[in-house]
Amino acid sequence: MERPPRDIYVKSNSFETLAGHLPGGEEALHRIADLMTRLPEMDLPPDRLAVVDKACRALTGDATEGEPTFELKVHICEEIRHISDADLARYLFYRYRYDVYPEIKRIDAFPPCVQIEPTSICNYRCVFCYQTDKSFTQGRHGHMGMMSLDTFKSVVDQIEGEVEAVTLASRGEPLMCRGIGDMLSYLEGKFLGLKMNTNAWFLTEDLAHRILQTGFNTLVFSVDAAEPELYARLRVNGQLERVLANIKMFAEIRRKHYPDSQIITRASGVHFSDEQDFSEMQGFWSEYVDQVAFVDYNPWENVYDTPPRDITTPCSDLWRRMFIWWDGKANPCDVDYKSHLCAGTVDTTDISAIWRGESYQRLRDQHLAGNRQAVAPCASCAVI
Ligand SMILES: C[S@@+](CC[C@H](N)C(=O)[O-])C[C@H]1O[C@@H](n2cnc3c(N)ncnc32)[C@H](O)[C@@H]1O
Ligand code: SF4
Repeated sequence: MERPPRDIYVKSNSFETLAGHLPGGEEALHRIADLMTRLPEMDLPPDRLAVVDKACRALTGDATEGEPTFELKVHICEEIRHISDADLARYLFYRYRYDVYPEIKRIDAFPPCVQIEPTSICNYRCVFCYQTDKSFTQGRHGHMGMMSLDTFKSVVDQIEGEVEAVTLASRGEPLMCRGIGDMLSYLEGKFLGLKMNTNAWFLTEDLAHRILQTGFNTLVFSVDAAEPELYARLRVNGQLERVLANIKMFAEIRRKHYPDSQIITRASGVHFSDEQDFSEMQGFWSEYVDQVAFVDYNPWENVYDTPPRDITTPCSDLWRRMFIWWDGKANPCDVDYKSHLCAGTVDTTDISAIWRGESYQRLRDQHLAGNRQAVAPCASCAVI
């Protein structure tokens, strides 16, 4: 299958198309204005209060001159619709830092977002994914494995109350992890922005119940196509029939047992080939999920063999997100799927110390100086 050229990949706006039950902004704005009136009586630490106040002012058009832009994008309105008034300040504290800190190149004690990888192993070999790189997947290279429940719990305990955006998935298929059921249960009620990406191959009734009980707010089914033949060519080793049956089963369990669930389900495609058609995706999947999306293709599956690009803009992820892999390695990004940039390991160092640590800061400084060319694989990566 032909691979399209891609010059840059803008991480803050990776949605190419998003459709589904999407609300307008008036209701969200009304609730934010109401929150502003309640802020002075709220028992928030001063640094949090200052961030939430800035977020409210930016969104309601009351920002002081020179303050960074923070906008009510459509997916933010949708998230706010699912957040209670009691949690709105907590949500804005995270959302503002997630959107704005990478722009103003600021960090505080914790990353705005943490991606935890239950396993790096995957049963698929999607054509656009680094799972096609044998020097990554072959066991002898040491990259494959599953996170222990102890490591998982220690990560969750460290970030609970500090980080709200937590995604379960990075390099592999999360539902393949042996301990995934217990991991899901351990997450229950702990994070406002809990998300998982899955190929849905291993989705069972038991896992569907656990996901719905845990309080995920986004569940992404990575499906890419609307008909079996194209699906099988893109999602190598997969079969649309089985995945569709699992997604239907999930929708049915949700309808029957969790009618009040706030989860947003999304059928998502990496827009890799001209053969993929968004309206076909929407027509096919919207019966079973809340949203259908195409995301931009990020040319990451061959980054170590790609010649340097001409990019001097810093990578925004260095101020937004940390990846914690099955073996406890903390990595600044998942384009570097072989972990050349490892910034520490959570078995020996606190997550906050790694985020603020020397290795991470050196990398940020190199990017800020316009010198990502000096670092591999940043030199060949398209993400800004
Ligand atoms: C690497 S996968 C891991 C989780 C799971 N196996 C899945 O497919 O959802 C995480 C997400 O990255 C997406 N993805 C994979 N390769 C990509 C690429 N080259 N560009 C953009 N997104 C990609 C997948 O579709 C998925 O939604
Ligand atoms: S995109 Fe997900 S399902 Fe496909 S090969 Fe990569 S990790 Fe596996």
